[in-house]
Amino acid sequence: MEVESRYVAVRHHVEGLPSEDDFEVKAARVRWWPESGEVLVRNLYLSVDPYQLNRMKRRSASHLAVDGIVPGERIDAYGAGEVVASACEEYKEGDVVTGVLGWEDYTLFRPSPGVLMSKLAASDDLPLSHHLSALGTSGMTAYAGLYEVGRPEAGEKVFVSAASGSVGSLVGQFAKLAGCYVVGCAGTNAKVDLLKNKLGFDDAFNYKDEPDMKSALKRYFPDGIDIYFDNVGGETLEAALANMNTYGRVALCGVISEYTDAGHRAVPDLLEVIYKRITIRGFFAWDFLTRFAEFTGVISDWIRQGKVQVIEDISDGLESVPSAFAALFSGDNIGKKMVKLA
Ligand SMILES: NC(=O)c1ccc[n+]([C@@H]2O[C@H](COP(=O)([O-])OP(=O)(O)OC[C@H]3O[C@@H](n4cnc5c(N)ncnc54)[C@H](OP(=O)(O)O)[C@@H]3O)[C@@H](O)[C@H]2O)c1
Repeated sequence: MEVESRYVAVRHHVEGLPSEDDFEVKAARVRWWPESGEVLVRNLYLSVDPYQLNRMKRRSASHLAVDGIVPGERIDAYGAGEVVASACEEYKEGDVVTGVLGWEDYTLFRPSPGVLMSKLAASDDLPLSHHLSALGTSGMTAYAGLYEVGRPEAGEKVFVSAASGSVGSLVGQFAKLAGCYVVGCAGTNAKVDLLKNKLGFDDAFNYKDEPDMKSALKRYFPDGIDIYFDNVGGETLEAALANMNTYGRVALCGVISEYTDAGHRAVPDLLEVIYKRITIRGFFAWDFLTRFAEFTGVISDWIRQGKVQVIEDISDGLESVPSAFAALFSGDNIGKKMVKLA
């Protein structure tokens, strides 16, 4: 079987702020045959994530864990799709799968223990898109980062940055379920409104209206921060550390404000870290892969019980991948950014 497909590639390495012009959509023919041992998937939803920018750079510490992206070549990415042909017992035509697919119409994969590809149960009653957001890597990141790294206790004070984003919106809601006091920051008033009035944050603010983040956080946390879930790095991290309580924990999830500018780095006061005995722990969601089913089981129940709202921001068509991706860095997304293929 041979299908006409298209894939999104970068034209060159991307070192600064990404724009649509950095990408091109290329045509490809994808071949599958019964003896190939492979599974052919027609992609339905593609995940659009900030970490891909670090893969697009010529050099990045992220390449220690995830391969760099080669200009002109296909880009693997988390997604959901339908099996259209299979040369393996475990997958049948018509199965819906989620896992590492690609920014392309069709993906071929060869099942192996190292390949993450889950089959959805026929009884699954939640929208397929949720398997890219709350029940996908964002959910795993938020759950592992908050519960395993942040280790919240009831009554503790939690600060979340990029709080209306895919990971942040879940972290804040999970922290509320743990009995914490939660404040989030985001880049527009509409996002702040969402956090306070729909997602149940105790408070929220627009960081773009706060020229002095240290004093802003002092206002929102007069008794100090116990857990900071960091999605942005830079001066937000510096300000959070300056307002942390003794034995505070920083779950260092992402530093998106530093991805687009190699010269922009947090310069924390490390004496503060020492004397307040603060733990700063970077973590990688995939380290918790063996507990993926456990985490998503809990999150699914919370969604069904109406305890967690899933915020998704869905663009249409493969050609919208570049603009959807660029939107992450201009703050144009609310919740999980993904692309639905026709
Ligand atoms: N460690 C892991 O395993 C792991 C896994 C997934 C994600 N992450 C990280 O988690 C963070 C959030 O990822 P996500 O997928 O949930 O993305 P997201 O929050 O849904 O989207 C990115 C958001 O970041 C904010 N932002 C962009 N540029 C910024 C800047 N210069 N300063 C401050 N905020 C900025 C924007 O919101 P505003 O309008 O609020 O500015 C934007 O909407 C990223 O840093 C990502 O790399 C880490």
